[in-house]
Amino acid sequence: MRILAIETSCDETGVAIVEDGRRIRSNVVASQLVHQDTGGIVPEVAAREHLRVLDALTEKALRDAGRDLTEIDAVAATVGPGLIGCLLVGANYGRGLALAAGLPFVGVNHLEGHVYANWLYELEGGEPPSDPPPEPLIPAVVLVVSGAHSDLVLMEAHRRFRALGRTIDDAAGEAFDKVARLLGLGFPGGPIVERIAKEGDPNAFPLPKAALADRYDFSFSGLKTAVLRLVRELEKKGTVPIADVAASFQKAITEMLAEKTARAAAEHAVETVLLGGGVAANLALREEIARRIGHPLRVPRPGLCTDNGAMIGAAAFYVLRHRGTEIPVAVRSDMKLA
Ligand code: KG4
Ligand code: ZN
Repeated sequence: MRILAIETSCDETGVAIVEDGRRIRSNVVASQLVHQDTGGIVPEVAAREHLRVLDALTEKALRDAGRDLTEIDAVAATVGPGLIGCLLVGANYGRGLALAAGLPFVGVNHLEGHVYANWLYELEGGEPPSDPPPEPLIPAVVLVVSGAHSDLVLMEAHRRFRALGRTIDDAAGEAFDKVARLLGLGFPGGPIVERIAKEGDPNAFPLPKAALADRYDFSFSGLKTAVLRLVRELEKKGTVPIADVAASFQKAITEMLAEKTARAAAEHAVETVLLGGGVAANLALREEIARRIGHPLRVPRPGLCTDNGAMIGAAAFYVLRHRGTEIPVAVRSDMKLA
């Protein structure tokens, strides 16, 4: 089963060709640079950008895969959650393409895409590897951490997710982005904070970690405010040691995420721990979680943690295989994982 998959929920336009939910034939991603000037995403601008590049990216994805539309079995697109205008562009484009080619259209939950990114693998020298990585074992505890979401879920079976906890205020990626802006580091903040933090001392400034005892929910707004206060104080004293602040913030947030993930893994009978979403690209987070769990940890490579079409192609395959009664097609900005 060969799926052409489209991702446009936020500020990345992605088109990919994925086989059997796992094998990436092609995966093109265009990151919108227009938002760097505004330091954040302007939804209407993002939607227009998706529309501008989708046709060319789709042609490139087919060309890279060495396939034409007649060799595609289904078209998939993200239908939520995300920015409504952006979702509508990708979903309508995908629906139109499917209709014109006489193919089924599959709507995909973006968060399921982040989970199923763990099922993907790449070609080697244009050919499928002789021993592809095994599928992740389920049940699994899954942490999806992105610019808009921080969800801790139990994946009981394919496409069966039970919510354990989620953020009650900011998403983890949003916290990275806000701290980066505070430190004058640019957007998106996560990768820059990670890079700068390498030069800093993570123990330079102790920062508060919201406890929310015996729950699996997260809260990052207190941490963000503490960083703001710290920076204002340091500014009064003279220069701000940016690397030390970044490292201290990264230590606090990764410990908060790792502590609950490890506890969830210990308290549920699971085979694996899976990570997904842009923040899962953070090496310090991976290491902190790996250190605390007794389970195998699976994390997509960084380029598959951030938004891309391949993860939507993987999830779409499992939607078709475990669809129940109907395939979702309607766009909804507030869709949940569980
Ligand atoms: O999954 P994603 O590409 O888009 C959403 O679905 O939101 O996640 C983007 C978020 C941004 O907030 C970005 O700052 C964060 O992921 N991010 C990172 C890293 N790379 C991306 N955060 C921490 N460390 C990173 N290396
Ligand atoms: Zn995402």
